[in-house]
Amino acid sequence: MRLALRGGNPLERAALRANLVPTPAAEAWGGVAMSGVLVAAVRTGIVARLAGAPAPAAQIAADLGLAPSPTRLLLDCLVSTGHVRRGRDGSLRLARRNRRWLDPASEIGVARFVNACGDYFDWWRDLDRLLVAGTPVEHHDRPPEDPYWRRYILGQLDLARLSAAEVARRLDLPAGARSVLDVGGGHGWYAAMLCRAHPGLTATVLDLPGSARVGRDVIEAAGLSHLVSFLEGDARQAEFPPDQDAVLCFNLLHHLTEAEIPALFARAHAALNPGGTLAILDAFAEPARARTDAAATHLALFVRLTSGSTVHRPDQLTAWLHAAGFTPPRRVRTARIPGLALYQAGKRR
Ligand SMILES: C[S@@+](CC[C@H](N)C(=O)[O-])C[C@H]1O[C@@H](n2cnc3c(N)ncnc32)[C@H](O)[C@@H]1O
Repeated sequence: MRLALRGGNPLERAALRANLVPTPAAEAWGGVAMSGVLVAAVRTGIVARLAGAPAPAAQIAADLGLAPSPTRLLLDCLVSTGHVRRGRDGSLRLARRNRRWLDPASEIGVARFVNACGDYFDWWRDLDRLLVAGTPVEHHDRPPEDPYWRRYILGQLDLARLSAAEVARRLDLPAGARSVLDVGGGHGWYAAMLCRAHPGLTATVLDLPGSARVGRDVIEAAGLSHLVSFLEGDARQAEFPPDQDAVLCFNLLHHLTEAEIPALFARAHAALNPGGTLAILDAFAEPARARTDAAATHLALFVRLTSGSTVHRPDQLTAWLHAAGFTPPRRVRTARIPGLALYQAGKRR
């Protein structure tokens, strides 16, 4: 893991190359350590404080009411990983390259996603339960009032903000499109940006109550409630409102089983007007990467751990769409969504 490989002297680097270092130990230890430091730095307000004026560790601890010694140790970690810079006078500030990602004021910041990652520690710890008993976490089963939903959906919003404008630009909507249904749309940001890009378009987000509550707050705070409204329901059973020109299904399929998706596509088809379009954004088990790319393999396992489902194959998507009455999906190229694929299919009949 990077943590162990950084800062080594030439002798240590040579030892690494010669496979004299027990890298699995470093990986098991370092992965969770690095994640823990970042999550705590966000959750305690250290990151936000660093994004303000530079200050020495003792001042940061005092400002935030934190214990001085562990705060200094955590800040040392952040300096060693390059997230934070120490000035000659000992004052600390967010490293320039991390400002755009961690400053809470940044429009492309991901601090809320980092915060949400704190929920994953317990899940990974219990991974062996999935292997032994086959039991996933099922995080969508939590009661709607659980504060977990806010962490989850605001984290997803951070990621969506990185690509929503580009997705809105690249999707091909029918001329004069007036209505879009965003199934599992959570925060509603993709739908909102699509509406902004297409005057006259309004959106309905259908999502579980816990997510829809957060989404409503997000959209209201952004002054976009005139464009996006929310409907609470389970996408596996809910009736979809009719008369849609587009249906979005973004980062939802990997939460659903192979048995649930065909029926969902059939309802999307029924909800669409003639000439309507279905857009799908998700991670797919692409043959070239599915078994070899560490990010793809870990995501596939994470999805099984959290939802009991998995990432599906592009050929399955094509078959499901065909059976539901859609044209073969067109892959929409995007620059800002590494690891995910955006597809669009038209209503065929
Ligand atoms: C990973 S988030 C993606 C949110 C948003 N579509 C995006 O791409 O940023 C998955 C969303 O699907 C919703 N979801 C999961 N299972 C669902 C179900 N059975 N019915 C409706 N929504 C569901 C979650 O509540 C969450 O909002």
